[in-house]
Amino acid sequence: HSSTQPSDTAGVTASPSTVSTPRGQSQKRTVKDFTFGRILGEGSYSTVMLGTEKSAGTEFAVKILDKRHIIKEKKTKYVNIEKTTLSRLSHPFIVRLHYAFQDPGSLYFVLDLARNGELLSLIRRLQRLPEDGARFYLAEIVTAVEYLHHKGVIHRDLKPENILLDENMHIKLTDFGTAKLVDESNVASTSPQRSQSFVGTAEYVSPELLTDKTVDKSSDLWALGCILYQLLAGQPPFKGPNEYLTFQKILRLEYSMPDHFSPQARDLVSRLLVLGPSERLGAGESDLSAIKRHPFFRDINWDNLHEQTPPNLI
Ligand code: ADE
Repeated sequence: HSSTQPSDTAGVTASPSTVSTPRGQSQKRTVKDFTFGRILGEGSYSTVMLGTEKSAGTEFAVKILDKRHIIKEKKTKYVNIEKTTLSRLSHPFIVRLHYAFQDPGSLYFVLDLARNGELLSLIRRLQRLPEDGARFYLAEIVTAVEYLHHKGVIHRDLKPENILLDENMHIKLTDFGTAKLVDESNVASTSPQRSQSFVGTAEYVSPELLTDKTVDKSSDLWALGCILYQLLAGQPPFKGPNEYLTFQKILRLEYSMPDHFSPQARDLVSRLLVLGPSERLGAGESDLSAIKRHPFFRDINWDNLHEQTPPNLI
């Protein structure tokens, strides 16, 4: 007998109420395992609440989806996409799905808690980020998107609202309800996928989605250009008084950069905000190394971003 094996007599002799039952794969959590706190976010089909798992006191963000509403609005496909996509992913810059369960009325996704909220709120609070801050956060976003694409996932709705900040001010990418899984033969992004219906948010939508309803990995590259612009300027590059006029600006590539953008930032923005998807920096390649090698990122160490202290944003 090996002394390293746990003794199985302890559970037999101790009173059952003092012995915690090991939670095997078969034992699903239920809503009763959590206490719920404040609302962290609200979407059209879901509410995200702070949830504390009673047994260990661990805090999570619990996304609660109303089944009746989802079925009535025919959104079951998107809910399934979110769950299967998140289950495939494991990366420090992407919100982890710890587990999912349901009761007769709702679905529950138990997610990493990102304590510092949305990148959008940070941009608004600071008006805009200093260039070092923008560089660091775009580097983290590029790292997350490179991982996604490597896993065959196109996010399709990248924007500062879907980029959350954890307790150490590192990013956690979220909201995979509109993601697309490209089959593995297509990981190098050769043939664009035709999508059924409009997805995404007006200001970050790529021109190809507007003209021929196609989306591929390079549509996420367009969004990276929009996000870099917004980090530095405080506003997205294309913003009209309504969706129609925003779309017109996108299709005409009608934007201008403020004077304070450095030459390197200007160059990177202009190489990502390109109407032809295949002409964008990094398009058609198996990774985003072309973006990572751009002079804007010269001082970035790509190997350990997660271990770095984010720059001061004052
Ligand atoms: N709001 C939406 N999702 C969230 C999360 N995972 N953490 C914190 N706030 C959120």
